[in-house]
Amino acid sequence: MLNSLCKLWSYNSDTPLQQNENTNFHAGIDNGIIDSIGKTPLIRINSLSDATGCEILGKAEFMNPGGSPKDRVAKEIILEGERKGLLKKGCTIVEATAGSTGISLTMLGKSRGYQVELFIPDNVSQEKVDLLETFGANVKIVPIVGMNNANHFMHCAYQKCLGDPQYYYANQFDNLANFNSHYLGTAPEIWEQTGQGRNIDGFVCAAGTGGTLAGISSYLKEHSQGRIQTYLVDPPGSGLYSLVTLGTIFDIKDRLVVEKLGPRSFYEGVGVNRKTENFTKAILDGAFKGTEQEGVDMAHYLLKHDGLFLGGSSALNCAGAVKLARKLGPGKTIVTMLCDSGHRYTSRLYSKKWLNENNFIVSDSIQNPKDLSFVK
Ligand SMILES: Cc1ncc(COP(=O)(O)O)c(C=O)c1O
Repeated sequence: MLNSLCKLWSYNSDTPLQQNENTNFHAGIDNGIIDSIGKTPLIRINSLSDATGCEILGKAEFMNPGGSPKDRVAKEIILEGERKGLLKKGCTIVEATAGSTGISLTMLGKSRGYQVELFIPDNVSQEKVDLLETFGANVKIVPIVGMNNANHFMHCAYQKCLGDPQYYYANQFDNLANFNSHYLGTAPEIWEQTGQGRNIDGFVCAAGTGGTLAGISSYLKEHSQGRIQTYLVDPPGSGLYSLVTLGTIFDIKDRLVVEKLGPRSFYEGVGVNRKTENFTKAILDGAFKGTEQEGVDMAHYLLKHDGLFLGGSSALNCAGAVKLARKLGPGKTIVTMLCDSGHRYTSRLYSKKWLNENNFIVSDSIQNPKDLSFVK
């Protein structure tokens, strides 16, 4: 929405609006919400850039109409389903989603006349659940169990669609339309915004389905002949750090942590314990681990010093950008993803009560914009 408004406002009143031949829409006017996805700003994060001596840039995906990069994914999945004849009038789109993809699928699904049914794990924030129900999705909340359990939320979604053409399984984890949405959309935008890749040295982000990291890392690697350094930052409880650094989904130390604490961290949408089809296509130089405390501190630091009000995964990504800046050294340009807004996490990450109950204390050092000692 914001993007399309910006485009309208940017019109010079002396220039007559051009008629678009294909759609009968004026040039610069998006043909429905589906057309207003993407073309998001790349923002210099001033505090982190000044403190590290690197240019740290955030791709402002929270400015998509549905508030996250999952708009791009939902668009590609829906259009591909329609192209293949699998998604037709009267169909219900079914998905297993931690929230963001559900919001995007519901928003776009409604705009094209489909019903949407979502299976979501029970650790998703109430704001997201409320939003999904307001949008008109049929939400099924499923207790978190291991992937081997038949009641895992992903298996529930798959089972629902099995053999019934009325249901279309979006399957964001293994559907490569997800990868394509970033390889064909987000990554070329970053490439163009950084002077055809001349002004970018590194890219880092966390992974859930892996679509973002895979799509962007492979595009940047291919187009820079391997020059641009690409990294994962992985939250506690996720097996991807081990996958990237050791080639197996867990090392023994991580497995003990997961067995003790369960596969949970407060980060929503990132961290996973299997190699998805989308993640398989990532081209990476390495990985960092990120803690929950780093995300808490970074979220509050960015709000205080940059006015950036972001969700946990974006905060983790920014901690990853600082780690990559330290690795590459001053003078480099590093891009990361600003996935969604803090508005979705006001009862958690930005709630004093929730922070207290979960034994988080925002570090005093965040008061000083030059002090990034909270990033380990
Ligand atoms: C808020 C948020 N950030 C980041 C991600 C991770 O993106 P990807 O699934 O492309 O790895 C997700 C995925 O659902 C998410 O919901």
